[in-house]
Amino acid sequence: MKMRFMVTGATGQLGSDLVDALAGRVPPGGTRCSLLGPAGPRSVIDVETLALSHAQLGVEDRPSVLNAVEGFRPDVIVHAGAYTAVDACEADPDTAFKVNALGTRNIVEASQRYGAHLVYVSTDYVFDGTSTRPYREWDRPNPRSVYGASKLGGEMECPPGATVVRTSWVCGAGGNNMVKVALRLAAGEERLKFVDDQRGSPTFTADLAAAIVTLGAERLRGLFHVTNSGDTTWYGFVRAVLKCRGHDPERVEPISTESLTPPRPAPRPANSVLDNMALRLAGLPEMPPWEEGLDRLITTLSGEGARL
Ligand SMILES: NC(=O)c1ccc[n+]([C@@H]2O[C@H](COP(=O)([O-])OP(=O)(O)OC[C@H]3O[C@@H](n4cnc5c(N)ncnc54)[C@H](OP(=O)(O)O)[C@@H]3O)[C@@H](O)[C@H]2O)c1
Repeated sequence: MKMRFMVTGATGQLGSDLVDALAGRVPPGGTRCSLLGPAGPRSVIDVETLALSHAQLGVEDRPSVLNAVEGFRPDVIVHAGAYTAVDACEADPDTAFKVNALGTRNIVEASQRYGAHLVYVSTDYVFDGTSTRPYREWDRPNPRSVYGASKLGGEMECPPGATVVRTSWVCGAGGNNMVKVALRLAAGEERLKFVDDQRGSPTFTADLAAAIVTLGAERLRGLFHVTNSGDTTWYGFVRAVLKCRGHDPERVEPISTESLTPPRPAPRPANSVLDNMALRLAGLPEMPPWEEGLDRLITTLSGEGARL
């Protein structure tokens, strides 16, 4: 029997890799999801996917959400759609909460009404960044930005049976992200300045999508931090991107967040490294190091003639 997955935000950078992972398309060297099928341990199940872009389904539209779920009757809903413009959220909290919190409420209602397992994708920005160690799933969130607060609102909507996946510094072939920004800037001549006082774990959508599909198919309930392993600062990350593409990393200069002019509207956590403790304690496989994910993404982008 086929397992039916519905994906929201399906044309976003994570959404498009979720759709690829569900179709069995994996980038060279990428992680394949180990789906546990009803036929027995480690059997690979058949999947049917309904991939809904924002244009096809705005999650704040309750009747449309209920209709979509009633029509497709998914076994699993991966709710990756979100209002992700972190700085814009500061000026427009109503939209942030309407999409990220109320929209999730609608998805939860539909998943409960039609018996689907829910996977909600959340963020490292639920933390304030003051911890001196990586954050565990059982640490208390304290978002400093409207975006972080609205995504935490989405988490608060999720029932105990849902899977909540917190991730960080997401990069994929299908979206705009720091890898693409760095490669665009590297093509110029000027010195590049990036902050060296914000630390996190770059996470690559090909790896993240595989982990999310596995968690969803296995209906593993509760909160999971899911990031590529290892951590760095934005400065360290941009240096690695340049090096990976054969540019001189010495062109990158470390600066402090305080010296950014103009300052970014939304505060970012200084430390948002997520300890993937729940995965580890449950005996689930660790995510690959972020450097490996970066290498694979750069290879993919190079193969596409650098779609930057
Ligand atoms: N990017 C990061 O660094 C990061 C870090 C931690 C967690 N996350 C979380 O990871 C998930 C995926 O993010 P991403 O990086 O893939 O972001 P993304 O590329 O911006 O994708 C988000 C998708 O959601 C769609 N969307 C926006 N408003 C919507 C609405 N009202 N209803 C339905 N869909 C809507 C967007 O469509 P349009 O673009 O057409 O509006 C887009 O396709 C999100 O839940 C995000 O909060 C991201």
